[in-house]
Amino acid sequence: MTPSITAIRGAFLDCLDDPFLVSIDQSIRYIPDGLLVLRAGKILDFGPYEPMFDRYSDVPITTYPGRLITPGLVDTHTHFPQTEMIASYGSQLLEWLERYTFPTEQKFQDVDYAAAVADVFLDEMVRNGTTTAMVLATVFPVSVSALFEAARSRNLRLITGKVMMDRHAPSGLLDTAKTSYEESLALIEAWHGCDRLSYAVTPRFAPTSTPEQLRLAGQLLHEFPDLYLQTHLSENLQEVAWVRALFPDCLDYLDVYEKADLVGDRSIFAHSIHLSDSEFQRLSHSGSSIAFCPTSNLFLGSGLFNIAQAKLPEFPISVGLATDVGAGTSFSLLRTASEAYKVAQLQGQSLSAFQLFFLMTLGGARSLHLENHIGNFTPGNEADLVVWNSRSTPLMAFRNPEAMPLTLEDLHDRLFSLILMGDDRSVEAVYVMGDRRD
Ligand code: GUN
Ligand code: ZN
Repeated sequence: MTPSITAIRGAFLDCLDDPFLVSIDQSIRYIPDGLLVLRAGKILDFGPYEPMFDRYSDVPITTYPGRLITPGLVDTHTHFPQTEMIASYGSQLLEWLERYTFPTEQKFQDVDYAAAVADVFLDEMVRNGTTTAMVLATVFPVSVSALFEAARSRNLRLITGKVMMDRHAPSGLLDTAKTSYEESLALIEAWHGCDRLSYAVTPRFAPTSTPEQLRLAGQLLHEFPDLYLQTHLSENLQEVAWVRALFPDCLDYLDVYEKADLVGDRSIFAHSIHLSDSEFQRLSHSGSSIAFCPTSNLFLGSGLFNIAQAKLPEFPISVGLATDVGAGTSFSLLRTASEAYKVAQLQGQSLSAFQLFFLMTLGGARSLHLENHIGNFTPGNEADLVVWNSRSTPLMAFRNPEAMPLTLEDLHDRLFSLILMGDDRSVEAVYVMGDRRD
């Protein structure tokens, strides 16, 4: 056996399909005593320990008794420059942008500053068990390069892009339609497809772009079909009214993006709270994804995202979970999923722990078209994983006196308590491409 093969033994949980759309049996895989075999940063083999251990008897095995091992979590929408302004008091979206966000983002024209914050952001992200993210930078290209550089040095899978913003922001933060196109193009050429990095064309949201800038964003997507598009959609009622006033020729908010050719199967729309039935259906037809940002939506008082409508079997939409820091209040996707549960409860929907878990893992991976690389333990996938301790605080240990459960039913209870009570303290180990991070 080649020495570069290693293995991890423990209780493994992953998703094979979407539990919003198919049964638990078809979507959830739980192996209470499993073996995950790794080679060169990827998953070589995976299954129950007993029938496999003969084949790998001379491979070094790390065992995590009493722990739960899952794929690394996926954050489908967040803002690295907003790390320092998390939990800024007392306003709703448009005022919050003016009062806190825009002044903070001005600092990111300084490459050293951007690099220092990128380090803090990625360290905090990984500490919380998140190993892949789609991230907004700022309007300054150096802030994008700084984040790509920091992600590359950690071997992380990461998608980001330069914010395009040519109106309705302080002058020091504005580009023009032409410079935003040129600067985005230069960043795409420098970074897209480099190691585990990808580029997302990033018009901030409709109100801060002229129709010409949105058109050029669409042109970039046309010129490079494997780019992503990330932006915000229908987060706040005042914002929606403003968009209606700014784009009187458009049918609704989504139509602003449709008219610029920005709505396709590699587009991720954050929030998507105040959508009409027609907008939900058009998102489904286009194959676009929604980033569900519950802590942010509650913090800014934006509204309740209707996940049941996004998961209608006739018009299903790919949904991933998102922290949306700094409007989001935590780097922990466990805490974020806990708020997602409560947001659904307020609408008479009780999401299962498995559905919440899907949103954090395979659901996020699918939303970013990365399901052939990450999101579950399928051999060939990259070995990003998290070892969780569901008894990591005194109260959690009291709540969960037993070792890891053996049945799926008991696991549901354990997983639900981990999601509702857990956070970074529950993360025992994180592996990125097979390497354990401290
Ligand atoms: N809409 C436009 N920009 C932003 C932002 O930075 N955060 C949030 N939550 N919504 C936005
Ligand atoms: Zn956002």
